[in-house]
Amino acid sequence: MSSRVRKAVLPVAGLGTRVLPAAKATPKNLLNVVDRPILSYIVEEARAAGVEHFVFVVGRGQGAIEDYFDANPEVEGALEAKAKADVLADVRGDLGPPGEMSFVRQMAPLGLGHAVWCARHVVGNEPFAVILPDMLMTAEPPALAQAVAAYDKVGGNIVVVEPAPKGEAHKYGIVALEAQDGRLNRMTGMVEKPPPGTEPSNLFISGRYILQPDIFGVLETQERGAGGEIQLTDAMAKLLKSQAFHALEYDGTTYDCGDKIGLLRANVAFALRRPELAAAARKAIQALL
Ligand code: UTP
Repeated sequence: MSSRVRKAVLPVAGLGTRVLPAAKATPKNLLNVVDRPILSYIVEEARAAGVEHFVFVVGRGQGAIEDYFDANPEVEGALEAKAKADVLADVRGDLGPPGEMSFVRQMAPLGLGHAVWCARHVVGNEPFAVILPDMLMTAEPPALAQAVAAYDKVGGNIVVVEPAPKGEAHKYGIVALEAQDGRLNRMTGMVEKPPPGTEPSNLFISGRYILQPDIFGVLETQERGAGGEIQLTDAMAKLLKSQAFHALEYDGTTYDCGDKIGLLRANVAFALRRPELAAAARKAIQALL
C-alpha cells in the first residue's frame, strides 16, 4: 500500500440548489471565476500538492467536466491558425497527462459520504484526498499542500478546518478537539450540523481531507444522518474510534462558490489578485459602489 497521497476524490454530483438556475444545465463546479471554471483552480491546487490521479464523482448531465479537461482540436486548431499563442497556452494549461482522471457516477445524490464511497474501486487500498470543489481556497502553500504536510508529520486522517462565521456553526460539520494548541490538533469527535448551542467548537470542516481507505468500510453501511443524507462526517466520527484524526486549521481564505455571494466574492477577489486585471477590476468595482 502506498502511504503517499497520490489520488484525490472530487465529489461534484450535488444538485447545486443554492446556485440555481445557473447550475441547471452547467455543472456547478464549471461556473466561472474571472475567466476559468472553479474546477481549474481546484485541480491546480491538487496537482501542486502532488496529486497524480483525480476521481470525479459525477451525476447525470455533467459530461462537460470531462470535455473541459480533454483536448479540443477544433478550438486549438483555430487558435493555432490565428497565431493566438497566449490564448492557446491558456486553453491547454489545464490539461494533464492522458489517464490522469477517472469519472464515476453516483446515480443519485444521496449525500457526500455516499459520493466518496462511489470512488472506492478507483481509490483502492491507499490514503487519499477528498476535495470539495465548491470551496475555493487561496493560501500559500495551497490548502491541500498544507494538509499533505500535516499528514506527512502525523499520519492517520487529516481534516482541514476553519472558524465558522459567528452564530453559524450549526450549519456545518464541527470538530471537537483534545486541546487547542497551534494549528494541528488531535480530534476527539465531530458532528454534522449540531443543534445551535451544542457545538463542540467553532471550527468547521471546510472541504479538504486526507483519509485512510478504511473509511470505505464504514461508508458501506449506508447509514443516513442529518438531512436524511449519507454523511461523510458521521463515517469519520465512527472511524475516529479506531484511528487518529487531526484537525488542521489552515492558513488562508475560503470562498464558498456553491453560494451566490461566495461566488461573487471569489470573482472579485480573484480578479484583484491578477496583476494584469487588478487595476481595471478595482476601477469597475468602485464605479458600482
Ligand atoms: P454541497 O451540499 O455543498 O453541494 O455538497 P450541493 O448539494 O450541490 O449544494 P446545494 O446545497 O444543493 O446548493 C458538497 C460537495 O459534495 C458534492 C457536491 O457536488 C459538492 O461538491 N455532493 C454532495 C455529491 O457529489 N453528492 C451528493 O450526494 C451530495
